[in-house]
Amino acid sequence: MTTPGPGAQGHTAPGHAGPEHEGPEHAGPEHEGPEHEGPGHAGAAADAAREALGTLRAEVGKAVVGQDSVVTGLVIALLCRGHVLLEGVPGVAKTLLVRTLAATLSLDFKRVQFTPDLMPGDVTGSLVYDARTAEFEFREGPVFTNLLLADEINRTPPKTQAALLEAMEERQVSVEGTARKLPDPFIVAATQNPIEYEGTYQLPEAQLDRFLLKLTVPLPPRDQEIAVLERHALGFDPRDLSHIKAVASAADLEAGREAVRRVHVGPEVLGYVVDLARATRQSPSLQLGVSPRGATALLAAARAWGWLSGRTYVTPDDVKALARPALRHRVQLRPEAELEGATPDGILDGILASVPVPR
Ligand SMILES: Nc1ncnc2c1ncn2[C@@H]1O[C@H](COP(=O)(O)OP(=O)(O)OP(=O)(O)O)[C@@H](O)[C@H]1O
Ligand SMILES: [Mg+2]
Repeated sequence: MTTPGPGAQGHTAPGHAGPEHEGPEHAGPEHEGPEHEGPGHAGAAADAAREALGTLRAEVGKAVVGQDSVVTGLVIALLCRGHVLLEGVPGVAKTLLVRTLAATLSLDFKRVQFTPDLMPGDVTGSLVYDARTAEFEFREGPVFTNLLLADEINRTPPKTQAALLEAMEERQVSVEGTARKLPDPFIVAATQNPIEYEGTYQLPEAQLDRFLLKLTVPLPPRDQEIAVLERHALGFDPRDLSHIKAVASAADLEAGREAVRRVHVGPEVLGYVVDLARATRQSPSLQLGVSPRGATALLAAARAWGWLSGRTYVTPDDVKALARPALRHRVQLRPEAELEGATPDGILDGILASVPVPR
């Protein structure tokens, strides 16, 4: 008889801007939960999955220093089959992180570098004439994969962005009237730069809603930056990830997903999520608040985090931990608020502080 291990082992709650917030109060697995998975096959598979996903964090750490909460956010997205937007200034290891994560999973992985001249067909695939058979045949684009790194998505024009976003939403590609299903899972991790450079195309607000989470990749604190330099001095080559092992599989993700579906959500938690969403709609600093779809996303992510933390129920703290990454891209500041220096995270923090937490 094995007791379920510390579920959040190695995981840090996402949604906090910097490692200064990565205190144990966010990472702490709660063993004292009264309800455990009963014995039996599903419970055992789920425990094994949780352990594999915990190991994954350490494995990613062999290439990427720190950025724990970003890794956890990506794992939550995998569990929810949700897409992720990674935002950070150049050179904070956004690309390296997703490449490394892909190496820790036995999943098909592809990367597309979004450039100004990329065409929709370069992403989705296109019909190609085959002279031998004198017929057109469909050549699959890079979206036909499990994990797609859409690197620097804001450097490509809207038409190509739209092709990707449509594939994300519909999980299929339609070319010349024929729909082709994408593999399952199909998860996009898109990176973008927060700074509007010349020649970049910001994603339209309406399409941002298609991302389950927006994770911010912060600059490292001093000690971690020193650790990055040390690795490089010792010959670390970010292009060579052959030392990274695949520690979790699609089966682990499926078992995890199954367990997340069984995570209990009490009425007080439902009420809390809705109260937070409603508060964003009433905030004088926001011109657009969170939609019911956004509230659903927050609950799904909080549930996955609850399970990763070793529990079979969601707490209001799980909801709090995921509020920023699940909601920050779904609210729109009023221009006046923006001029005064308000940020979505700041507004959300204010809302989290003022909406009563159920006990
Ligand atoms: N936390 C970190 N751990 C390990 N290496 C790091 C870290 N941060 C930066 N680096 C180093 O910086 C390099 C740049 O990272 P990467 O290309 O992934 O950044 P990026 O955020 O994708 O940048 P861009 O926005 O320009 O694409 C990495 O290959 C790595 O050598
Ligand atoms: Mg990059």
